[in-house]
Amino acid sequence: MFTKKTVRDIDLHGKTVLLRADYNVPVDTNGKISDGYRIYQSLQTLKYLQSQKCKIVICSHLGRPKSPTDPACSLRPVAKKLTSLLKTPVTFVEDCVGAKAETAVKNMKQGDIVLLENLRYHPEEEANDPTFAKQLASLAEVFVQDGFGVVHRAHASTDAVTKYIPSVAGLLLAQEVDVITNAMSKPERPLMAVIGGAKIADKIGVLNRFIDIADVLVVGGAMANTFLLAKGLPIGKSKAEKEDIHLAQDIMKRAHIAAKQRNFVFYLPQDGVVAKKVDPKTTTRIVDWDAHVIADIEQYPRKPSARASKVEESEFILDIGPFSSAFISGAMQLCKTVIWNGSLGVTEIPAIHNPIGPFAHGTEQLVDAMLGSHGNRPFSIVGGGDTVGYIENRQLTENFNHVSTGGGASLELMSGKRLPGVEALANK
Ligand code: 3PG
Repeated sequence: MFTKKTVRDIDLHGKTVLLRADYNVPVDTNGKISDGYRIYQSLQTLKYLQSQKCKIVICSHLGRPKSPTDPACSLRPVAKKLTSLLKTPVTFVEDCVGAKAETAVKNMKQGDIVLLENLRYHPEEEANDPTFAKQLASLAEVFVQDGFGVVHRAHASTDAVTKYIPSVAGLLLAQEVDVITNAMSKPERPLMAVIGGAKIADKIGVLNRFIDIADVLVVGGAMANTFLLAKGLPIGKSKAEKEDIHLAQDIMKRAHIAAKQRNFVFYLPQDGVVAKKVDPKTTTRIVDWDAHVIADIEQYPRKPSARASKVEESEFILDIGPFSSAFISGAMQLCKTVIWNGSLGVTEIPAIHNPIGPFAHGTEQLVDAMLGSHGNRPFSIVGGGDTVGYIENRQLTENFNHVSTGGGASLELMSGKRLPGVEALANK
């Protein structure tokens, strides 16, 4: 249960509110937002504040600016997007503190909305600087934290600002923390976690937590290559992190102990789609490096050649193979909850003729199984920037039970870490 006060727990009527959102969204060089999921998800709190006739002063970061005016990190395109979504003008202000921000707020009327320029144009934001936080707080009467994606950072707009004005949670933040915490603490079982993506180091906390609490843990994506390497399997030219082999070994050891102690399955892909080039037009083949039991489909029942079970030095593993997909989908038929973070293949390579990329089939099969194509439809939670970007592009977001706006924040919450931006808010 969410134990912090939310916007519904205090009287906000007619008040000036400083709303921290996470509008760290991808913007192309023409100012077009290619994935607006975080913006859509922020609307529920904005609409609630509008219903309370608040003056709404929104602040956010975007990207990691290289200079205090880095144009690629301006929030101006977000103001445009909000204006069209809310069908109400959202005034963009070129600085988040100082004279420009103060004048803009002074001129606001009830129901007005302004969006302040990127907080990270001021290094004091990331330094959690109290003077900067005080300047931000002086713009409003109440602070509302709704940027779930950033609450794992102790920055001025997530931590220090709460020392100066009453601070409560927005509706998105409350919902995110509630759904994820419940799924981790009292999931409907069996619980399956599917963790893909690139870096083990980013996911070690969450992998260890799932070894403790999940019934099935699947590792996929480029991260799985490091595990295969740790098992001594050849992975050719595939992306892997040699310096993290010891991490993979430790995780496998822990998983092995857990599997001896209780009903727990730790699953690494047993086959993969490989190719000599990372190219949508390239020739691919399936390598089954684990089971070695498949028959040669062309000349059944003959056994395949040794080549069919070995990734060659010149090849890349680009996706999980059909046996791995079948295992994952099959195990999912028994599960009541599935938590997924990270693609299982190189999903960013676009397809030539259809919406599914050439190395996205493993991920697509996972999506199908999660959404009930084979019968069972588990409670589904999806997290992670790239994963959410993928399903948003496939226009499937609405079909899952919960799609998190947090990348690092959702991983830290799942790992059981404290989130400074949540801790700082008033208790119920
Ligand atoms: C995110 O995209 O994960 C959040 O907006 C936090 O961004 P950061 O990793 O740059 O702090």
